[in-house]
Amino acid sequence: MLILGLESSCDETAAALVTGDRRVLAHKLAGQEAAHRPFGGVVPEIAARAHVEVLGPLVEAALAEADVTLADVDAIAATAGPGLIGGVMVGLVTGKALALASGKPLVAVNHLEGHALSPRLADPDLGFPYLLLLVSGGHCQILLVEGPGAYRRLATTIDDAAGEAFDKTAKLLGLGFPGGPAVERAAALGNARAVPLPRPLVGSAEPHFSFAGLKSAVSRARDAGTWAAEDIAASFQAAVVDCLIDRTRRALNRVPTITALVVAGGVAANGAVRAALEGLARDHALRFVAPPLWLCTDNAAMIAWAGAERFAAGMVDPLDAPARARWPLDGDAEKVRGAGVKA
Ligand code: KG4
Ligand code: ZN
Repeated sequence: MLILGLESSCDETAAALVTGDRRVLAHKLAGQEAAHRPFGGVVPEIAARAHVEVLGPLVEAALAEADVTLADVDAIAATAGPGLIGGVMVGLVTGKALALASGKPLVAVNHLEGHALSPRLADPDLGFPYLLLLVSGGHCQILLVEGPGAYRRLATTIDDAAGEAFDKTAKLLGLGFPGGPAVERAAALGNARAVPLPRPLVGSAEPHFSFAGLKSAVSRARDAGTWAAEDIAASFQAAVVDCLIDRTRRALNRVPTITALVVAGGVAANGAVRAALEGLARDHALRFVAPPLWLCTDNAAMIAWAGAERFAAGMVDPLDAPARARWPLDGDAEKVRGAGVKA
């Protein structure tokens, strides 16, 4: 089985070819950091235009690298949401056009399912069900992953996502864009115990997350002028790690038998986050699985792989499948009350 995957839901444009037996034949990616850097964040309209310009050439480059044509592909998987709607539409319409022209089926993939199943692309031994901490720029959730299309959301954020907190902290501290890697680099040079920062929701009964208060505390610490940016970055990162670990531990105590503790999404690229989760898994005598760094941040191989899992399970989509700005993985999950509930 050979699947072409397309990704364009945020600020990475990507195309990849992945086989049903987990071979990544090609994965092409074009970031847009330079275009967004002057604004300190992703500008949706600039992102959508950039996707239009580069997605076609990336598909051609991926096919050439894998030395295949569309005729060799079994299905075309495109991110259909959630994300910045202009970008999602570019990728989904491209996927539909390729499907129509080639007569191959379309698989409309939820971007979050791409992240959620990506650890199984890297690790053939990872079976269902597993507990997943999904931490990205737009999402911070704990999910019980039971199979393609089968998710139970145990927790979400009541305000900001973890990656968003990293990005805002980087902006506040003048560390540059994109924020996550910049904060991690600065944190390596600082003292994590220097700045007293809150651990929002730690110890609360439901395993939900909150990062807005932490961001405000970082802003106040900066304004105090007492601490070096490196110390604030290190203390912030330690606070985020404490929150993620406490909340994940609580969720672990609620789930039935699972095969592993898994982390995915852009923040899973953070060394401190990975190390702490590995320790938590050890405490619970669980396997710990984290995809390689290139598979943690947005890419099309994870979309192709989620497409492969869905296609193998007989899930294909009509050519009028909608692009969705919001698309929860677990449609039955309760709405969580809090400032700025987005899903
Ligand atoms: O999964 P992703 O590439 O895109 C979304 O779907 O959101 O995640 C991007 C997020 C950004 O907020 C970025 O700052 C964060 O992941 N990130 C990191 C690191 N690398 C990326 N956060 C902390 N430490 C990192 N090393
Ligand atoms: Zn993502």
